Amino acid sequence: MVLNIMACVKHERRHMGRASCFPCVTLLVGLVLTYDSYADLQSSVDQAASGVLRITNGHACPPEASLSHGRAVYLRNCQSCQRNCQSCHGICGDGNGDYAPTLRIKPRDFAAGVYKWRSTPTGSLPTDEDLLQTLSRGVPESGMPAFAGMPEKDRLAVIAYIKSLSPRFNSEPVEKPIPIPPEPAMTMESVKKGRLAYERMGCTACHGAAGNGWGPIALSLTDDDGHPIRPADLTGSTWKGGCQGEDIYRSIMTGLDGTPMPSFEKQLPPDEAWAMVHYIQSLDQRWPGVP
Ligand code: HEC
Ligand code: HEC
Repeated sequence: MVLNIMACVKHERRHMGRASCFPCVTLLVGLVLTYDSYADLQSSVDQAASGVLRITNGHACPPEASLSHGRAVYLRNCQSCQRNCQSCHGICGDGNGDYAPTLRIKPRDFAAGVYKWRSTPTGSLPTDEDLLQTLSRGVPESGMPAFAGMPEKDRLAVIAYIKSLSPRFNSEPVEKPIPIPPEPAMTMESVKKGRLAYERMGCTACHGAAGNGWGPIALSLTDDDGHPIRPADLTGSTWKGGCQGEDIYRSIMTGLDGTPMPSFEKQLPPDEAWAMVHYIQSLDQRWPGVP
């Protein structure tokens, strides 16, 4: 049964395109109804990892061990997490999983190959390390869980699998990460300099003068798929892309692809970008005081 599902996903993707997921879903329902144990699945995961799969409906999966393994991880219920990837991202990886309608932010469509959290320049593909970081950290506030408890080999395999769902990874090189110079000391001076840069660069239009996400155009923003999207609240509650200074620096310089959050790599010299990070960190109420 599990092998059937695997073949189905592959078959759907190769021969029918993303729009025709219905037979897959029907099969999945069949799987859920008849599926009895995790051990059962684990043994087929092992079979998948060890070679060519024999599929009852006549379609054989390719002998790419890590892709088969990654696909099995994508589909299975893992023991350390509450939901598997496909329940949100969809059995075909198009973001239309059963659980997706309950989420305010749509799960990523892996066919597009557009990723928000990258170390690489705007418009380019993420590195495997970027995807590993996102997967391990999760995306707070969006429903995307942290999978740090999943064995690393499974995380790497599922990353290889989701990459295989987008033709971009076959046709474009992964660019080098943008350089992040060492963080200078945070001083009253750097915070003041950062505040001026924050205003000059127009961050206020979206994130607001107070940085709380209520800028004058905040409510009119949409992502590239036309879904409404809110600017981040920069006052220190949760950070989707990581809470360290380097993470904030990276988001500002690379921008978040697929969203209105632009890349400032070309306009902001590194020292001003660090000053801006310090200003943003000073907005956290735990910091002694904003000058
Ligand atoms: C409960 C729902 C849910 C589950 C389960 C889930 N995701 Fe997600 N995932 C999301 C949502 C929602 C987003 C979009 C977050 C955002 O853009 O703010 C997302 C985004 C992502 C991204 C995009 C990150 C970027 O840089 O743009 C990746 C990669 C990802 N998920 C991989 C996975 C993998 C692999 C699994 C399974 C191991 C998984 N997700 C399980 C809901 C989920
Ligand atoms: C046109 C609107 C717009 C402008 C201008 C803009 N941002 Fe953003 N920014 C966004 C949106 C929207 C998000 C949230 C994206 C998401 O959650 O997927 C965001 C996210 C961020 C994040 C990531 C926060 C996290 O949770 O990890 C940081 C940091 C940030 N912006 C800083 C800035 C700074 C600093 C500037 C000015 C140099 C700026 N932004 C300019 C719209 C904007």
